[in-house]
Amino acid sequence: MEKLILEGGKPLFGDVPISGAKNAALPLIAATLLAPGVHVLHNVPDLRDTRTFLRLMEDLGVTHQREGDTVTIDATEVRDIEASYDLVKTMRASVLVLGPLLARRGQAKVSLPGGCAIGARPINFHLAGFEKLGVTCRLEHGYVDAAAPGRLRGACVYFEVPSVTGTENLLMAAALAEGVTTIKNAAREPEVGNLIDMLNSMGANIQGKNTDRLIVTGVTSLAPANCRIIADRIEAGTYLLAIAASGGEGRVTCCQPAHCSSLIDKMRQAGFILECGDDWVAVRQPGGRGLSGQAGGWKAVDVKTMPFPGYPTDLQAQFMALMALSNGMCVITETIFENRFMHVAELQRLGADIRIDGRSAVVSGRGMKALTGARLMATDLRASSSLVIAGLAAQGRSEISRIYHLERGYENLVEKLSALGATVWKERE
Ligand code: EPZ
Repeated sequence: MEKLILEGGKPLFGDVPISGAKNAALPLIAATLLAPGVHVLHNVPDLRDTRTFLRLMEDLGVTHQREGDTVTIDATEVRDIEASYDLVKTMRASVLVLGPLLARRGQAKVSLPGGCAIGARPINFHLAGFEKLGVTCRLEHGYVDAAAPGRLRGACVYFEVPSVTGTENLLMAAALAEGVTTIKNAAREPEVGNLIDMLNSMGANIQGKNTDRLIVTGVTSLAPANCRIIADRIEAGTYLLAIAASGGEGRVTCCQPAHCSSLIDKMRQAGFILECGDDWVAVRQPGGRGLSGQAGGWKAVDVKTMPFPGYPTDLQAQFMALMALSNGMCVITETIFENRFMHVAELQRLGADIRIDGRSAVVSGRGMKALTGARLMATDLRASSSLVIAGLAAQGRSEISRIYHLERGYENLVEKLSALGATVWKERE
């Protein structure tokens, strides 16, 4: 395994290009199962998770090839319908093959993903939705064995909680169902919108994009897609927070500012100066003193994670790192997952003053120089990126072990940070 070494305490400056969104690429790759033929997806990030998902597609009999950030997928043949435990346990998003396999083949056998570091993460809403469409789901030996006697039938599906992959799975299943499916309390994340655009470009009929009520009028067949993955709003937010926490200034480019508005609002409340262009967001220190290196620091701001368009849970850990360096006290509340504070103990090793109180963390920021480098351990994807942000802002050297977590969701991390002036490299553990 490898570890990441960071020499902290240096302000970051410059532009960083944002890659395609991991959480859009995964459902869009799955959606190619819906139509025989050759699909072309542009702006696909080359990550551990996208490589794992493409390996799963190979197991199902689908071929693919990558040229730069374009992936061509030939889904003419879908010879198998099983996603194995060995693969699903490494990437729970594998459950996204359930919907398209049920629509295309009328059956699917997918390992239950099990829990992960941030929570139990059941898929009961997915399975209940499929049952409404006429699917029988049997759970045995750790697998979901799902089958439909004939073509899926449209129905009304209601999510108790707006589930992102649950909404995506049901959209893919309903696209080829007979009749109309209404999805109520649907997730409104931009990645769901990217999938809707792709499915409609293939000939599907989905109304209500960006709302919590989606109407899917099933069609009998779909054509192969040629579409583009949206920019990764979580990667963009991570770099904005890294630049801000380091005391520097810079821009994230090739992104969609409208997808980052809740973070931009929170960083402005903390005193940072943020400007938005068509495809970029720039951040400067409070009072605009980044380049001079003299900055007076920033305010503490409360955050509560919510489904989109609220503040994203995937940027909660990263914001906590920024708040550990603020001048003041704030409360960060995690409402989406029950165990998403794994980064707190590691931030405390850097000197952060954080106290967990149930679903909330009380952060007492002690200024920009509050943290000192330490040896750290990554526990999950976004917690790891929080440690990178804190390590870059801490005085002295930090080492982060188990960085395979980071490689799941951040393309060319070392190159992008180095281009911003960070002193960072990988070593074998
Ligand atoms: C997606 O996960 C993202 N992953 C997650 O990003 C993200 O944190 C999450 O949405 C919330 O925005 C992908 O898109 C691949 P949910 P998902 O279903 O769909 C509960 C990252 O770091 N729930 O929206 O699995 C669930 O436990 C990852 O990139 C059920 O109870 O999340 C959670 O409390 C981490 N039963 C809440 O709903 C279900 O059947 C929202 O989960 C489904 C969900």
